Amino acid sequence: MQRTSISSSRRTVLEMVSRTRCRAASSSIRPRPQNRSYADSPTIAGGKLAQIIRDSIRATGPIPISRYMQFCLSHPTEGYYSKGDVFGRQGDFITSPEISQIFGELVGVYFLTRYLAKGGKGPVRVIELGPGRGTLMDDVLRTLLNFPTIADKIKEVHLVENSLKMQKLQGEKLAARIDGRGIDLKWSDMVDGIEDSDAFTMVVAHEFFDAMPINLFEKREDGLSTSKNAGLRLAISRTPTPLSTVLPATSPRFAKLPIGSRIEIAQESFKITRRLGEIISAKGGGGGAGLIVDYGGDRAYGQSFRAFRDHKIVDVFDEPGSSDLTANVDFAYLRESLKGVARPLSPIPQSQFLLSLGLQARLTSLLASAPNDARREDMRKGAKRLIDSTGMGSEYQVMGIEPLGAAGEAEEEVYPFPARAEVLSEPVDVQSGVDIPVG
Ligand SMILES: C[S@@+](CC[C@H](N)C(=O)[O-])C[C@H]1O[C@@H](n2cnc3c(N)ncnc32)[C@H](O)[C@@H]1O
Repeated sequence: MQRTSISSSRRTVLEMVSRTRCRAASSSIRPRPQNRSYADSPTIAGGKLAQIIRDSIRATGPIPISRYMQFCLSHPTEGYYSKGDVFGRQGDFITSPEISQIFGELVGVYFLTRYLAKGGKGPVRVIELGPGRGTLMDDVLRTLLNFPTIADKIKEVHLVENSLKMQKLQGEKLAARIDGRGIDLKWSDMVDGIEDSDAFTMVVAHEFFDAMPINLFEKREDGLSTSKNAGLRLAISRTPTPLSTVLPATSPRFAKLPIGSRIEIAQESFKITRRLGEIISAKGGGGGAGLIVDYGGDRAYGQSFRAFRDHKIVDVFDEPGSSDLTANVDFAYLRESLKGVARPLSPIPQSQFLLSLGLQARLTSLLASAPNDARREDMRKGAKRLIDSTGMGSEYQVMGIEPLGAAGEAEEEVYPFPARAEVLSEPVDVQSGVDIPVG
């Protein structure tokens, strides 16, 4: 990205974002323009959680954005996901598994192909991070259970979810699917709760990493400084902080940032992805395969932190806990986290992933058995939306995770990911890799 095209590139990013999460209403609702600096965000009194956050700041001083996000999304009683169902047309956003069953079915098909490619023997466990209503897991299981080669091998379903209300929804959804099959259903509130296993581990995270806390850094002459939330507005710390000293050193790409640029760094995402790689590659374990699907790209972002409510973008400080906070996923950072632990695959656009795995054929078969024209139209629209090259098909990326091969062994090509050499030691081109901050 050239500096001369800063404003148009930023517009592109914001418009893309609004289509992604406002799908049900994108034609009628325009998001609020956000062409201003974070530091200009107004101070807004609002709600019980705002008071809790202010009290915390009063007691211990300014908090980093990551802490603010944790408060807003995961506070046990006032957090966004702690309050209940926020999905679907009636909720704040709608996601791919909720749009079409084909999404989860093809994720299941991918995992089946990886299991068979590794010999198709031994027990299987299926893990999902951030399972929402449980729709994706339900579709994956339904698909896998249809194949006799694997149906009786599935021993465990493990959900990583920190909202008790969401856990309840997930349990209700999946109880019937696993009933009488000897499948153990368990929850952890973080990946640390997942143990290494001799089972082949299938792990999927769909729209999970975009909800992980980020911190925002600005490159200064004297190094990188971090933004903090003080009194519910953003302020840049005048001096280096522990975060600004440690985090930017975690990727060689960040060292080359031009002075004045801002980057969002999701340290939790780095740690979690690395742990997933360890689980899949564990020595003496059953191996496995991972899929991360989210919006973002193979690059860092500087201005993607945003809030959604009722399918619209709202100010990130507007009534904390009542809107979804999110940031684009830096897939290059996730790939970097796997260095020496597991093998990252691409990412590729969602449309490429789904079409390669047979979306068209599956749609044709579903249409043939649909009860009426209205249902057929629904199915067509849903499938089209998933692969729309101007929307979800390109905005969402799919990254695979495979165990590391033995030293000296040629890397197996994993369909539908293109074979390509991973050059993790070289930083990306910073000019095209990072949004330039508001001037
Ligand atoms: C955007 S939703 C995605 C839901 C689902 N994967 C889908 O696509 O419909 C994020 C999910 O992650 C969960 N979640 C958010 N932050 C979390 C955290 N720190 N630890 C565990 N789960 C979290 C939420 O409760 C929710 O289930």
